[in-house]
Amino acid sequence: MTVQGFRGEILSLRHDPAESPNAVRHDADGLLVVEHGRIVARGAFADVSPRFPGLNVKALDGLIVPGFIDAHVHYPQLDRIASHGEQLLDWLDRHIFPAEKAFADPAHAAEVAEAFLSELLRHGTTSALVFGTVHAASVDAFFRAAEARGLRMACGKVLMDLGPEGLKDTAESGVSESEALIRRWHGRGRLTYAVTPRFALTSSDAQLAGAGKLLADHPGVLLHTHLSENTREIAEVAARFPDAADYLDAYDRFGLVTDRSVFAHGVHLPDRSCERLAETGAGVAVCPSSNLFLGSGMFDFAQAERHGVRIGLGSDIGAGTSLSLLHNAGVAYQAGLFKDYRLDPLRALWLATGGSARLLHIDGDVGMLAEGQEADFVVLDDKATPLLARRTAGASVVERLFALQVLGDDRAVRCTYVLGQCAWDRDGVGQKA
Ligand code: GUN
Ligand code: ZN
Repeated sequence: MTVQGFRGEILSLRHDPAESPNAVRHDADGLLVVEHGRIVARGAFADVSPRFPGLNVKALDGLIVPGFIDAHVHYPQLDRIASHGEQLLDWLDRHIFPAEKAFADPAHAAEVAEAFLSELLRHGTTSALVFGTVHAASVDAFFRAAEARGLRMACGKVLMDLGPEGLKDTAESGVSESEALIRRWHGRGRLTYAVTPRFALTSSDAQLAGAGKLLADHPGVLLHTHLSENTREIAEVAARFPDAADYLDAYDRFGLVTDRSVFAHGVHLPDRSCERLAETGAGVAVCPSSNLFLGSGMFDFAQAERHGVRIGLGSDIGAGTSLSLLHNAGVAYQAGLFKDYRLDPLRALWLATGGSARLLHIDGDVGMLAEGQEADFVVLDDKATPLLARRTAGASVVERLFALQVLGDDRAVRCTYVLGQCAWDRDGVGQKA
């Protein structure tokens, strides 16, 4: 069956609602028509269905939204979620680096990659920008698993020649292994490569320069790293780069700040960094549950909005506390209030879909459920728990969306579709992840 209709309530955003009006696209009784994995028509059922006589239509019970796009996550940290007791730098030493060492074994990497992708789909996430480990084979394992499931994914080998013993590359091997991975995977099907220096503290100047050269030599790839997450980290970066104007500038000097750069966190940014991010078109992956879990701080949404900084939403597993971008949107709302910002539920949905898609440069293909885009979508169940059912009864679509962000998680994902095919079905009917 090449043409398939999906009927239900459809909600998406055309653009950032904070930027301009008319962002919302809501079809209370809508129809999505999908051919060969792409949306060929969308609109009110009454308007669209007459154009497709004899169309096979599947009714979907719930709120259909674009598949979530996680703008920053570490697949090798899946099994270290909920590791107790430290802020960033000690948490890395105590919990994360030992776990990442195990990815020297490609069989382990393959097993975790499969588990991670199944979890993503259970949480309604269909695309992500993903850290591997320092081992090139960890990225091969990830891309192999993503390709087999037909997922649109971005990933990269971590560059960390100043990392701990047993978990470091060299400036030369980092570049040559990244080059080989780019040749093997970048642009193959739905896959994108991201040059991935871990953060400023774990790469030598020579390695950061090598990362800049990789970007210059391969204009389509992304740059993915961490920025200004934790105050101790920021102090160490300032000591290491005394001539840099700020943390972002330490990257900028090596050509790492471009419109294809995605910086995770940006919790403590001087205005100068925001100006430079906006000027270059670089993006920030906001990771609210991680920032709370590691005691890093609260992202300043108002500051970013004032400067026109592009943002998306990330889970940052294993520091984040849930892969659910619904949950992370709810935490973002609460964290935002600490900085006098009231994150609108529709803007939160934008950040988790089109906003992240823009950071990953995949917004031509996914994130808005627009005609011509790929049919990656999620069906949310706003009655997934008894309390959700009570809270959403008779409520407006925005109220229901907010309730899903505050009370919802993987339980509220009834099913997840990838290229128009069911890849996760909570209730066990049809194909499972
Ligand atoms: N900074 C450098 N590495 C990491 C990491 O693995 N997680 C987080 N949250 N921050 C980092
Ligand atoms: Zn991270």
